[in-house]
Amino acid sequence: MSGTHPPSLARIQSFAFSGIEAVPVTVEVQISSGLPSFLVVGMADKAVGEARERVRAALASMGLALPAKRILVNLTPADLPKEGAHFDVPIALGLLVAMGIIPSESIIDYAAIGEVSLDGKLNPVNGVLCAALGAAILEMGLICPKAQGIEARWGHPDIDVLAADSLLALLAHFRGEQVLAPVPEPQGYEPDYGPDLADVKGMELGRRVLEITAAGGHSLLMSGPPGAGKSMLASRLPGILPDLTREEMLETSQIHSISGLLEAGRLIVRPPYRAPHHSASLPALIGGGAKARPGEVSLAHNGVLFLDELPEFSRACLEALRQPLETGTVSIARAARHATYPARFQFIAAMNPCRCGYLGDNERACHKAPRCATEYTSRISGPMLDRIDLRVEIKPLSPIEISRAPKGENSETVRKRVCKARDRQLKRQGMCNALASPENFALEEEAQTLAEQAAERMRLSNRGITRLFRVARTIADLAGAESVRRQDIAEALSYRLREP
Ligand SMILES: Nc1ncnc2c1ncn2[C@@H]1O[C@H](COP(=O)(O)OP(=O)(O)OP(=O)(O)O)[C@@H](O)[C@H]1O
Ligand SMILES: [Mg+2]
Repeated sequence: MSGTHPPSLARIQSFAFSGIEAVPVTVEVQISSGLPSFLVVGMADKAVGEARERVRAALASMGLALPAKRILVNLTPADLPKEGAHFDVPIALGLLVAMGIIPSESIIDYAAIGEVSLDGKLNPVNGVLCAALGAAILEMGLICPKAQGIEARWGHPDIDVLAADSLLALLAHFRGEQVLAPVPEPQGYEPDYGPDLADVKGMELGRRVLEITAAGGHSLLMSGPPGAGKSMLASRLPGILPDLTREEMLETSQIHSISGLLEAGRLIVRPPYRAPHHSASLPALIGGGAKARPGEVSLAHNGVLFLDELPEFSRACLEALRQPLETGTVSIARAARHATYPARFQFIAAMNPCRCGYLGDNERACHKAPRCATEYTSRISGPMLDRIDLRVEIKPLSPIEISRAPKGENSETVRKRVCKARDRQLKRQGMCNALASPENFALEEEAQTLAEQAAERMRLSNRGITRLFRVARTIADLAGAESVRRQDIAEALSYRLREP
C-alpha cells in the first residue's frame, strides 16, 4: 500500500486542555532508519504513552504493520503537559501520513482528536467542543469520533467536521475511496425547564424570595424545619431564570464537555442546576483531583449551585467556596501548574434551624434547644453568611393548608417577569444587580434615610449594606420603578434574617 517516496515526517494538529481552553499541540511523527522502536516524547502522561499500544493494535486490525524502523512521536510544545487518550487519533493519522498511506496535503487543514480502540474504532473523548472552538480559531476543520460530530459542529457555524467511526473510514476518506458523510447542522430542541413552580402551593414568601433571587441573580439561604419545602423551591429556581446567551451556552457546555458530561449533540441551553450532597469531597466540589477536573462550582457556571443542609458541609468546602463566590473563577493547583475554570454561579443554600430541625416547635424540638441551634448555625462562618444576599425563614404549611391552597403561578409566567427585570438591569449597568456596584442605583431620599438608620441599628457591614442596596434595586426593578423606594429597602431588610 505504501507510496514510492514515503515522507518520513508528518505533522498533525491536535490540542491539550488548560482549563476549558484548547491549547494547540502539534503531533510530529518521524520514521527513520535505525533499530525498530516506537517512542512518544513531549511531557506525555501515562494515557498518552499507552497510545502506542492502542495505535499499533488498531493498525494491525486494518492489516497494517508498523514499519520495522525507528518511530518517534513528538508532542510540541514540549513544556506543556499532555494528558488523556485523545492523542490516539492524531498519532495514528501522523503514522499513516509518515508511512505514505495518506497523502499529507489531504489532511493539512484538519486538527484531530479521539481515542482508538484495538479494533480501529474511534471512541468518544472529553473536550470535543473545546477542540472545535480551538480548531475554528486556527481556521481548521476537526476530525473527531462519529458520536461527537454534532458536538463539534456547535463550535462554529462554518466548521468542517469529519466525524468517523473508525480509522479505516478516515483512511478511505483521505485516500478518496469513500468520502465521509458531512455532519448535519445541529438542530434546536425543546429546552428542559425542570420542575414547575405551579406545584408549590401557597408559600407566598418563598415564591417571592425565589423570584427576587432569580431576577437579580442573587444568592439565597433558606432556613426551615424538615419538609418545609426548601429543596422543592430551590429546584425550581433554574426554571424561572432567563435563557442563556449563546456565549454563556458555549462556556457552560465547554465545562461539561471537558468533564465528559455533555449529552451527545446537546449543548447546555438552560442554566444548569447542581446540587452536590454534603458528603462531597473538596475536589468534587471545587475541582481538582488527579485529573484536575472541573468541580461542581464550575459545572454550575451560569446556573445554580444548591447546597442543601449547608452546615453539614465540611468547613474546608465552605471556606473554599469563597474564592469562586468572589471572583467567578476557581484556580486548582496541580503539580506543575494551575488550571483555572470559570465558576460564576448563583449560590442557593438550605438548612434546618438546628440539628433536629424543629427549633421553635414546642412539641417536637429536642431538649437541647436553643443551645443546639447556636452550635449548629455557627458552623457557617460570618464571612460566608455575609456573602449571602437574601436570608429567609421558610415556614412549613400543614397538609391541610397544602391541600386547600390553590395552584400557584407557573414557572413560565414568573420567568417572563424575571426576564423583564433582568433586561432593565442589563440596560442600566450591563450586568445583573447581584454583581453591580450600588453607585449605579438611584435612591429616593426616604429610602436612603431608612437604609442609613437600619445600617446603624443592625450594625451592617459594608458588604452587608452593598447587598441590601442590590436586593432593594432588584425589588424596584420587578416593580418597574426608576429609583429605589423606601418600601424596596424595607422589604430587602426583611430578608436579612440573622446578621453575621
Ligand atoms: N407548599 C407546598 N406545596 C406543595 N407541596 C409541598 C409544599 N411544602 C412541602 N411540600 C411537600 O413536602 C415535600 C418535602 O419538601 P422538601 O423536600 O422541599 O422539604 P425541605 O424543606 O427541603 O425539607 P428537609 O429539611 O427535610 O430537606 C415536598 O416534596 C412536597 O411534596
Ligand atoms: Mg431538603
